[in-house]
Amino acid sequence: MTERSFRILLLGGDGVGPEVLNEAKALLETIGEPAGARFAFSEALIGGAAIDAHGVPMRDEDVEAALNADAVLLGAVGGPKWDHLGKTERPEAGLLGLRKALGLFANLRPVKVFDALANNSPLKAGVVRGSDLMVVRELTGGLYFGQPSARTTDESGRHAVDTLPYHESEVERIVDLAFRLAGSRRKKVTSVDKANVLNTSQLWREVAIEVSRKYPDITFDHALVDSCAMRLISRPRDFDVMVMENLFGDILSDEAAVLAGSLGMLPSASLNGRPPRRSGTTAALFGMYEPVHGSAPDIAGQSIANPIGAILSASMMLRFSFEMGEAADAIEAAVGQALEEGMRTVDIATSGEVPVSTSQMSSRIRTLAVAQLSA
Ligand SMILES: NC(=O)c1ccc[n+]([C@@H]2O[C@H](COP(=O)([O-])OP(=O)(O)OC[C@H]3O[C@@H](n4cnc5c(N)ncnc54)[C@H](O)[C@@H]3O)[C@@H](O)[C@H]2O)c1
Repeated sequence: MTERSFRILLLGGDGVGPEVLNEAKALLETIGEPAGARFAFSEALIGGAAIDAHGVPMRDEDVEAALNADAVLLGAVGGPKWDHLGKTERPEAGLLGLRKALGLFANLRPVKVFDALANNSPLKAGVVRGSDLMVVRELTGGLYFGQPSARTTDESGRHAVDTLPYHESEVERIVDLAFRLAGSRRKKVTSVDKANVLNTSQLWREVAIEVSRKYPDITFDHALVDSCAMRLISRPRDFDVMVMENLFGDILSDEAAVLAGSLGMLPSASLNGRPPRRSGTTAALFGMYEPVHGSAPDIAGQSIANPIGAILSASMMLRFSFEMGEAADAIEAAVGQALEEGMRTVDIATSGEVPVSTSQMSSRIRTLAVAQLSA
């Protein structure tokens, strides 16, 4: 097998970030050879760790290193130690600046309910079992960035305004990406909007219909965001790929997270739609990959954090940035097997189950993933 090589920048960040990222790195080191790939890792600081060492939440040279990598794998940033800092000096500013520099416009949050954990969700097991969906959220437009955005006070009282702008090109690139992703999944796209009220949503729907004509083999429907929020927790199996604007995606992706039973289980990817610099094909996408959870300061340093969110983020990186779908499948199957065997970190252990440590969970997944690949 020809060995391909990839350069990965690791940004551990704060709290449990470095702990779970180390496990993702260990997995990649183990799986590289059997999967026919070599990974070269470099590391940099981000968030509170970078503030403590360099006085800024991320140095320009480290942003440059991210731009030169084939993919970026991140832990989490933030913690009470830095909460007193101003908005532009806080750990989160490093992450926001990096996302901007990398031009990441699409946030992907897959939520898969592993059979062994169907009882962990606060929803009924019969409702969530078998759910396997992906929320694709537009990340650079909409209400969070639209102008004017201001607060004023006059003699009549206080006013505030935020603006929700979208250009057709922004809608087209994210909806197109959603269709491409659906092609390698269950071939269904649901576009979420509020087209019965909002002009931006009417534009969104029009453009989504135009894009859908390029993909006749993908089933396509629209959902209004309000009723979609209900369906997401009453009939989650209805959905495969769901695509939506920034604010709707922010809300619905957190709602969807409840299905999986623990934040520690969930991976994410942010993509910019272009191939990594050294990729031989245009199908690969440059991305930054990170677990959905934060730095979990309440359990940091205890070696009990669930590494699965970070491990599945590494698996997404293999699938989307390096076109190593077989290795990604092996990792996902290994996670399912480890859970079937009864391995539980503290966040997913129910009463009577003895939790394993971060490294015990991770080590079992590595063994099972290698076995899967050589099977
Ligand atoms: N992308 C990011 O880096 C990111 C995202 C969210 C929050 N944060 C930051 O993280 C800090 C803590 O925020 P928070 O407490 O609201 O959210 P959090 O996700 O860090 O923790 C929420 C709860 O989930 C638990 N948890 C999280 N990850 C876990 C894991 N891998 N294994 C087991 N349990 C896990 C925590 O112990 C905690 O009880 C804050 O500074 C916040 O700003 C960062």
